[in-house]
Parts: sequence; C-alpha cells; structure tokens
Amino acid sequence: MSETKKYYENKVAVVTGGASGIGLALCEAMLAFGAKKVVLADINKEKLEGEAARLDGEYPGNVLGLICDVTNEENVKDMIAKSAAFGEGRIDVLFNNAGVGLSGLFEEQTTKDWEKAFAINFYSAVYGIRAAIPIMKAQGGGHIIDVISGIAFSPMAQQTMYSATKAALNGLTLALRYEYWDENICFTSATPGTTITAIWGENKPPEGAQTAEQSASRILEGVARRERLVLGDDGDVSGATNCFNPLTAEGVDAYLLDVARKRRSGEWVV
Ligand SMILES: NC(=O)c1ccc[n+]([C@@H]2O[C@H](COP(=O)([O-])OP(=O)(O)OC[C@H]3O[C@@H](n4cnc5c(N)ncnc54)[C@H](O)[C@@H]3O)[C@@H](O)[C@H]2O)c1
Repeated sequence: MSETKKYYENKVAVVTGGASGIGLALCEAMLAFGAKKVVLADINKEKLEGEAARLDGEYPGNVLGLICDVTNEENVKDMIAKSAAFGEGRIDVLFNNAGVGLSGLFEEQTTKDWEKAFAINFYSAVYGIRAAIPIMKAQGGGHIIDVISGIAFSPMAQQTMYSATKAALNGLTLALRYEYWDENICFTSATPGTTITAIWGENKPPEGAQTAEQSASRILEGVARRERLVLGDDGDVSGATNCFNPLTAEGVDAYLLDVARKRRSGEWVV
C-alpha cells in the first residue's frame, strides 16, 4: 500500500470549496484512498448538492455536503461542528481551499474590495483553523492545509489582491506550523500549480496547465509527507526558489516587469 494512501485511510477530512475544481478532486482522491468520511463545504448550493450526491452514490454514507460561506465566521464554526459530528467527533484533515482569483487595476479597487478579498482568501482560513484546533487538540493531532498560490512567490501586476491575500495566507500557515508542531497539529501551505478549473472564468488557462486531478494528486502526496510547502508544478518550484534569492533578483524583476507591461497592453500572460 502506498504511503500516500495509508495517510488518508480511515481519516475524516473537510474541504472548503469542495464542490469544484481542486477541492472536488481532493475529495474524490481521499475517498479513493479510503478516507472514512469526507465533507465538501461550499457556497455553491447547486454544484455542492450534485457533487455530494454523486460521491455519496460511490461511497455510501461517507460523504456529506455542507453549504457554507467561508467569509462568515459563524457559518464556518457551524460547518466545522457539523463535520465533526459526521466524523464521530473527529476531524483529521482540514483543507482551507475555497478561494477566488482576483484581478484588476489597483487604482480602481476600493477598501471594500480589499476587505472582501481578504475575507474570502485569508480570513476564511483563520475561521477554519480557529474552529478546528480545539477538536484536533482534543483528539491528539491533525493536519491543516491552506491552499495558497504560486503568486505568493511571484506577485503580479493587476493581481495585487490575489498576490497579497495568498502571501498573507502563506505567512499565517508557516508561522502556525511551528506554533502547533509540538501539539501534533501539522500545518502545510500548498500551491496547486496552474490548473484548469472554473477559477479562470473567461480567461483561457495557459498551455501546459494541469488537470485538477493532477494537482490534487501532487498536493496529497506532499501533505502525506507532512511537507512545509507543497509546490503544485515546476513553475511554482521555480517561483518559490527564486522569489527571495538575491542572486536571481534581476531575472525575477525582468520577468515580472514584462508580465506587467504585457497586461497593460491587454495581453493576459501569467
Ligand atoms: N486553478 C488554479 O490555477 C489555481 C492556482 C493557484 C491557486 N489556486 C487556488 O486553489 C483553490 C481552489 O480553486 P480552483 O481553481 O479549484 O477554483 P474553483 O473556482 O473551481 O473552486 C473554488 C470553489 O470555492 C468555492 N467558493 C468560493 N467562494 C466561497 C465562499 N465564500 N464560501 C465557500 N466556498 C466558496 C466556489 O463555489 C468553488 O466551488 C483556490 O484557493 C485558488 O486560489 C488555483
């Protein structure tokens, strides 16, 4: 049996944004690995009900769909409590995965826009972590994974809110890793790599983008190894390697300036 499969077997897992894309692929893969219970939490009622029913058909009694707006702390508390009840008191693995891609010109964004951005891409995870920790402490441990993005290491023009929220989420996750390590609550930051999902909206994902299943598989392997930072594709490995390296600063600057100029001229490159 693979080490990865063993890690998820008999576990109770919760995935926010579980009704679509990478979150849904994480749920399907964990069920295939023998997870005992998997909770899909999402704001999209129609997709959630459809996907939860489909998965429950394949794994009867092991799947629960919960409607939850992760920007609302009470909603998240309630969702975590219901998930623990479904898991007979346990939550072993929590993926704070729900998030949105945010783009636009800085000058056109208001403080309200920034607050909304942090609510969905950052505070959602704070709420999930806060609600799950007492359960994980009581059961003697657990694993919390926050889904960031390669943009945390390659902050891009016209994606200021996305860059800032995901970099903040990475900082939160990695600091908590050391705060809770000795309590056997493991924290991991995970980038999915460039992945074909609904998040791209009307923008076409670039050539070479991977499937949600490929992304989920790479994330689940790294999480099973209890890695600090799981990087979803080679582009993210390069971004993370070069981001704060003074020896590569010139190249990083040149690349990101080129992205900014192309975007200003109307070409959406990543
Ligand atoms: N697809 C990529 O290329 C890519 C790259 C880097 C990071 N990510 C990150 O991966 C995560 C998953 O994104 P995806 O690509 O699977 O996109 P997706 O749009 O397919 O899935 C996101 C899910 O989050 C849900 N969601 C949105 N707002 C919510 C809210 N307020 N409460 C609860 N659920 C909410 C949506 O309904 C949707 O089901 C996100 O955090 C995203 O930032 C994606």
